[in-house]
Amino acid sequence: MISPDKIDAVKNANDIAEVIGGYLTLKRTGANFKAPCPFHQEKTPSFVVSPEKQIYRCFGCGEGGNVFTFVQRMENFSFVEAVKHLAKRAGIEIEESRPDPNFSEKESLLGANRETMNYFHEKFKASEKAKIYAKERGIDDATVEDFKIGYAPGDVSVSVYLKSKGISEDIMAKAGIAGHGNSGAYDMFRERFMFPIFNLYNDIIGFGGRVFDDSLPKYINSKETPVYIKGRNLYNLNNARKNASDGTIIIVEGYMDCVTVYAAGIKNTAATLGTALTPDQAKLLKRYAERVAIMYDMDDAGRAGAIRAGDNLFSEGLEAAVVSFEEVKDPDDYIKKFGVDALRGKIKSAQPFIEYKLDYLAKQGDINNAYYKEKVIKEMAELIEKTESPVVRDNAVKIISKKLFVGYDVVARYFKVKNGLLAKPEPGHDFDDTLAMKNRSIDEAERRIVSMALNALGTENEVVILKHIQERRELQEMKYDDFKNTIYAELMVKIKTYFKAGEKNILKHIEMDYIDNDEINRIISELLVQKPVEGAAKKKVHTADLMQEITDYVTTIVQKSKTVPEMAEISQKILQAESEKNAGLLRELQEQKKKLQKRMHNIEE
Ligand code: GTP
Ligand code: MN
Repeated sequence: MISPDKIDAVKNANDIAEVIGGYLTLKRTGANFKAPCPFHQEKTPSFVVSPEKQIYRCFGCGEGGNVFTFVQRMENFSFVEAVKHLAKRAGIEIEESRPDPNFSEKESLLGANRETMNYFHEKFKASEKAKIYAKERGIDDATVEDFKIGYAPGDVSVSVYLKSKGISEDIMAKAGIAGHGNSGAYDMFRERFMFPIFNLYNDIIGFGGRVFDDSLPKYINSKETPVYIKGRNLYNLNNARKNASDGTIIIVEGYMDCVTVYAAGIKNTAATLGTALTPDQAKLLKRYAERVAIMYDMDDAGRAGAIRAGDNLFSEGLEAAVVSFEEVKDPDDYIKKFGVDALRGKIKSAQPFIEYKLDYLAKQGDINNAYYKEKVIKEMAELIEKTESPVVRDNAVKIISKKLFVGYDVVARYFKVKNGLLAKPEPGHDFDDTLAMKNRSIDEAERRIVSMALNALGTENEVVILKHIQERRELQEMKYDDFKNTIYAELMVKIKTYFKAGEKNILKHIEMDYIDNDEINRIISELLVQKPVEGAAKKKVHTADLMQEITDYVTTIVQKSKTVPEMAEISQKILQAESEKNAGLLRELQEQKKKLQKRMHNIEE
């Protein structure tokens, strides 16, 4: 356990620009520095370091944080290791101590996982059996290192080791490394070939272990823990994102495919962890890739999984494609049989997801039957409507029309109106777009309010801005509980609380509260560092403008939580009345709608 004062001292002694300058060539641009981002592939630099705010942020991939997070990412360190490393750099002494029982549970779990990973990795190096197995599977020494492949001997091997390191049986059990038996803890992974699972911050969050023979179960995976949520992580994304030079990331089903494909030279590959690719995972991928090639197993489960993965990727606005091959079950087998270049060819010529899904659905029934054909078109339309791109939509309609021998206009009829495309907008139905716009602006409004509050901290504007936010909130009865983004809400409550308590350096307090929270650090860096406008003269920001902006955004948020749902309801009723041809009711509803619109307008002004 390292005390907050020590952490603070280490932070102060390590200027972020100097530390990052040791890794990258930084170029000065005004008050900031710039470099090509080390966390994703890019040609024009969008990685910004702010010495004034002591944070970094990449406008390309969204990475960001403080000096500790940077070192964690670059060196594959845990938070504690990063602190120790930077302490050493600055000549600050950090006394080693036994893990404190009050140490946060997450940090304890990560600590236990890291010790376990190191232990299994050392055991691997000492095990002929494990090394021979790796060789047989085509996993070379460099890949063993990159993935920190391990060997779990069992029965009480790692449990005894962890105990000697002062890790409690309770934490071992919570981490899923050990179980409780009559005579104490016993290992969960016994006689297994081990794959440690890293997250993007290079923490070890869990493990997968394979048997050496044909016994069952073939794989044992860590259970979910407070540090391991399966649907929010992808195996090897930490490496894949750095190797996605052409903007493509490949997704495979399991550890073994991921590792062997990597060993063969295809390094931009990540794996889902025994589940279908979730919307959260799709969002994660969107930060690092434009295109995702799904390369699942050639069996029924794999094909169904590819459909679900593709649906989620497409819905996030990613270009998705599906890799297929013949004769073998999975990419690992394919490389063994046909070589890696053949697999590269397959990836290049992956089938666009829309075509793949259409073929898949067509095979699920009698596609010459008009009723089934209609069902397929409806299902395809439901998916395709999720894209914002008119070109992608038009292209998809053409594909469906061509493949199913149905006229373009007929297919287009199954699409709801969006931006007036594919069908003529019907009069009076303009509200959907307004609603969508409002929804989008809510996030923006919340984001701007937190951003303005954070940026005002420690400046001459601090008091006037925070007071103004307070006033507008009271006046318009806006509660942070109503914020859609709970992290923004949490930050605002923190600012409010520290401000009320008369704290001098609020920003510092907030930074220290979240010092080892990677996700919140990323968000804070996003809120504090604004994208530089190329070539534009730096405009002076007037306090009055900021205050006006705050007033507007508070209004937007309040309006959303009250007026917009009412408006949506009325619009729904109008549609209903229209379809029932109830002229009287329709007139009445339209009258109500006008009143609401007026109200909305008034608030906006
Ligand atoms: P090899 O047989 O070593 O080539 O591995 P593979 O990747 O071909 O295995 P498979 O396609 O059977 O499994 C893919 C993924 O499904 C694995 O990485 C695991 O995450 C999961 N999985 C497979 N078998 C089991 C099992 O027995 N139990 C659990 N919990 N998960 C499994
Ligand atoms: Mn396999």
